[in-house]
Amino acid sequence: MRYRFTDNFWFGCAESATQTEGFCAAGGKTPSNWDHAFKISPHRFFNQTGPEETRGFWQNYREDIQLMRETGINSYRTSLSWARLMPDGYHLDEAAAARYRDIILCLKEAGIEPIITLMHFDLPFLMQQKGGWLSAQVIDAFVRYAETCFDQFGDLVSHWITFNEPIVPVEGGYLYDFHYPFKRDFASAARAAFNTQLAHARAVNLFHERRYAGKIGIVLNLTPSYPRSEHPADVYAAEVADLFFNKSFLEPSLNGRYPEKLIALLKHYDQLPVVSEDDLQIIAHARVDMLGVNYYHPRRVQARQTAINPASPFMPDWFFDAYEMPGRIMNTSRGWEIYPQGIYDILTDLRLNYGNIPVFISENGMGVENEERWIEAGQVNDAYRIDFIRQHLIAVHQAINEGSHCFGYHCWTFIDNWSWLNGYKNRYGLYRLDLKNMQRTPKASAQWYAALIKNNGLN
Ligand code: GAL
Repeated sequence: MRYRFTDNFWFGCAESATQTEGFCAAGGKTPSNWDHAFKISPHRFFNQTGPEETRGFWQNYREDIQLMRETGINSYRTSLSWARLMPDGYHLDEAAAARYRDIILCLKEAGIEPIITLMHFDLPFLMQQKGGWLSAQVIDAFVRYAETCFDQFGDLVSHWITFNEPIVPVEGGYLYDFHYPFKRDFASAARAAFNTQLAHARAVNLFHERRYAGKIGIVLNLTPSYPRSEHPADVYAAEVADLFFNKSFLEPSLNGRYPEKLIALLKHYDQLPVVSEDDLQIIAHARVDMLGVNYYHPRRVQARQTAINPASPFMPDWFFDAYEMPGRIMNTSRGWEIYPQGIYDILTDLRLNYGNIPVFISENGMGVENEERWIEAGQVNDAYRIDFIRQHLIAVHQAINEGSHCFGYHCWTFIDNWSWLNGYKNRYGLYRLDLKNMQRTPKASAQWYAALIKNNGLN
């Protein structure tokens, strides 16, 4: 075995509540911002497929967990739906709590370590109506929700994640118009980012102060920024992109403070939110026990090619343009470059510059359109996905060999699931979901992944 991993290395998969359970009218669940977004703008969703059309994990979890067990995965990250667990945002729905408990127990009985995310994009719409991440009330409510989860499930769960990719709802909701409330306003984006960080920090501090058993962390989508050339203007463009899209959450989450350069830049453009010293202290105090990294693709940038219109709304894009590197290898379904070296670069950066914090790859995978074209004898022969995972795992292995504290790899995702705006356009699963009858069939990658786990490594 050329690339062996340690015996307790996490090999698993990641999913989220909205993408597997969906709205699912059962019980008292109230709408999330996604249910609302679909109601008012179904045309934004691929084939007008909304969060009601998920694969029914809420009902079928036993069968799905049995498939995970057969595949041999030893860990699984999913999220709880706040709007389901606490339909009015504040009070527990006992039946929903009992069902979540059963799901977690079922995972444990299958020998699968549950890693539970509190917030994976799906803010309850009632909280959105209170101002969402712009509102201090919502931060308080989130902390209460976090506490309820720790109390309810703390005896079963020893790995908690506060937020999945907290920057995505900020970018989507307040800069680039792809998440509700579909705004473009940097001041709101900065406020939402700060409030999310504060909500995270308060949940982490509460977890540690109350001495709940286990570990708590955050999952960040780290997208390394590579400059077009070594020219100082290109290098600066990459540096600023990195400040906005990686360091804005990475530095406060790991070092307890915001990067000086980002503060100076926002001050210069009069975009720095006014925040209290107390809140900064709360963030400074919160240290995560572990970090999850979602990595799909790199970001390549160059110095801006055109002048900025200073009267236009302030945007991170004032400082860089995207760069299409000649010869880059693409996953054309998703429009994403395939660059396994990126995962190595992230792990190495965390080792050298962030105290080598314990980290796991919490999402990595490949979304491909029209996978039915690869069906042979009833099975999707997804050699491209096997190749993708293999190459990324080799890069992870190399980083570990050089000293990274990476302790796991989760692929997105176990069974094809519903994606935020893309519905079922791109399939990510190790299992294929037939939308006609909801049947699950292993793709070639599921068998390959099972063998990899059994051998604890690759040749
Ligand atoms: C991530 C997100 C997941 C999933 C994945 C693949 O950004 O955390 O929920 O949608 O992308 O598109």
